Amino acid sequence: MTLPYGVFISFEGGEGAGKSSQIARLCATLKSCGIDHIRTREPGGCVEAETLRDLLVRDSHNNWTPKTELMLMNAARHEHLEKVIRPALKDGRWVICDRFCDSSLVYQGYARGMDLSVIEKYRADIVGSTMPNLTFVLDVDPMIGIPRSRGNVHENGQVNQETRFENLEMSFHEKVREGFKKVVLNDPDRCHLIDAHKNQNEVYMDMMSILLQKYPLLSVPKNTPN
Ligand code: TYD
Repeated sequence: MTLPYGVFISFEGGEGAGKSSQIARLCATLKSCGIDHIRTREPGGCVEAETLRDLLVRDSHNNWTPKTELMLMNAARHEHLEKVIRPALKDGRWVICDRFCDSSLVYQGYARGMDLSVIEKYRADIVGSTMPNLTFVLDVDPMIGIPRSRGNVHENGQVNQETRFENLEMSFHEKVREGFKKVVLNDPDRCHLIDAHKNQNEVYMDMMSILLQKYPLLSVPKNTPN
């Protein structure tokens, strides 16, 4: 497939599914193949969106209604798309994003119970055609993922303080897991469910076999639109 610009890959899944390690591995592979790319995340990814992220993920006094939460996620997404994602794709760079709009559908929709058609309206308006080309949904039982996530130490050595979502009850995380499965069923060409109970090497190989089928990496020219 010839694309007019860079490849957009998102990673999704419940808490503690191991997205960060898999993203780091993928970026290392892309680097070794000479593929120009950026690693980014949602909510966040640029200064303005990171400011909103603090309001959204820190477990302080931020008791947002689901609707406000959705609007803040989309405000952050709009900034991120305009300032980081679209310019990078236009320059022919690959964008590797830790969470994107499927998280809104799952967390604010399937798990918080917001009307899915409202979420889709925001998606259509804010994201439009800038959808990921490929999405890996890392699936893990929350009974395993949540304790992992609570004990997480960030790459900068700090203990995870972004616990507002992690601290929600287990039934919420079960809904998140089931929601992501629905996302994959509804868009099987783009979304791939990856069994994240396996060890990290196996998870990575499962992802790479899907990625290589779609984009044989070595044929992607360096720094130029593919
Ligand atoms: P993240 O830090 O990626 O969580 P984790 O590292 O634990 O996987 O994302 C922060 C939280 O934001 C996460 O619990 C999911 C939530 N979220 C939403 O509720 N809606 C959204 O649209 C996005 C992007 C994230």
